[in-house]
Amino acid sequence: MRMTYDFSGKVALVTGAGGGIGRATAEALAASGARVVVGDVSEKGGEETVALIAARGGTASFVRCDVSKPEDVQAIVDHAVNSYGGLDIAVNNAGVDLEVVPVAQWKLEDFDRIHSINTRGVFLCMKAEIAAMEGKGGAIVNVGSLASVNGVANKPAYTASKHAVLGMTRAAALQYASSGIRINAVCPAAVRTAILIDNVGTSAEAAAAVGAAHPIGRAAEPDDIAQAILWLASPASGFVVGHGLLVDGGLSVQ
Ligand SMILES: NC(=O)c1ccc[n+]([C@@H]2O[C@H](COP(=O)([O-])OP(=O)(O)OC[C@H]3O[C@@H](n4cnc5c(N)ncnc54)[C@H](O)[C@@H]3O)[C@@H](O)[C@H]2O)c1
Repeated sequence: MRMTYDFSGKVALVTGAGGGIGRATAEALAASGARVVVGDVSEKGGEETVALIAARGGTASFVRCDVSKPEDVQAIVDHAVNSYGGLDIAVNNAGVDLEVVPVAQWKLEDFDRIHSINTRGVFLCMKAEIAAMEGKGGAIVNVGSLASVNGVANKPAYTASKHAVLGMTRAAALQYASSGIRINAVCPAAVRTAILIDNVGTSAEAAAAVGAAHPIGRAAEPDDIAQAILWLASPASGFVVGHGLLVDGGLSVQ
């Protein structure tokens, strides 16, 4: 059963919404009545998300945004404020996972790129979003990972970046809780998106192995994570602050 939320009159911004978890979240927010600003480096992906939302009668617009660039981040927040009158919900989802070779073969450029998007990107987004929400309140949901709380073999840069996402979530949440800006994170295990395919490939065996690793018997679908994000963005989670919500099919419990 899916919860229903009423985000009518709300303005939401989702980064990395050109596919995967970000697209599912943008679609779910729009289906619940929010006007959605879709950000991504991929114009094709972003425009497709807007078209999917529009086809169901929702309101959305695409702004090309590289979250590692302060000017892009400020421009997308400005777009939300200038076009829709404010910013109520922000989902900082854009992220990359490039460590697919053993540690000794990594490139320093990959380490820096992971941190520029996953860590610096969330920092820049929260900075601009909080400035737009101050005095009015809002909800921010950052997308961490099981790697926000566990070590992942052979992925130190990704693991460090996702620990940083949860750390920044907690630090900002403490500072803004009393100002009506709630800041939380979702921490998924494996989700069936491009990132997972890059990691394990497309074979049926690989998919079965990933599913079997989760006590629930499958990897998450993007909408499983979107539903957790909507809950954290909604008044239903009104007393939840600085939390890293594991959405992992039981993987971290075993
Ligand atoms: N898929 C998983 O198994 C999984 C598990 C845990 C956490 N996550 C996290 O979920 C988030 C979304 O990942 P996904 O699985 O949907 O992957 P995805 O690759 O399907 O989507 C990521 C989106 O981010 C965009 N993007 C990449 N770099 C960007 C940048 N610099 N600025 C703006 N957009 C950018 C991509 O174009 C893409 O549309 C990431 O933060 C990822 O680390 C994913």
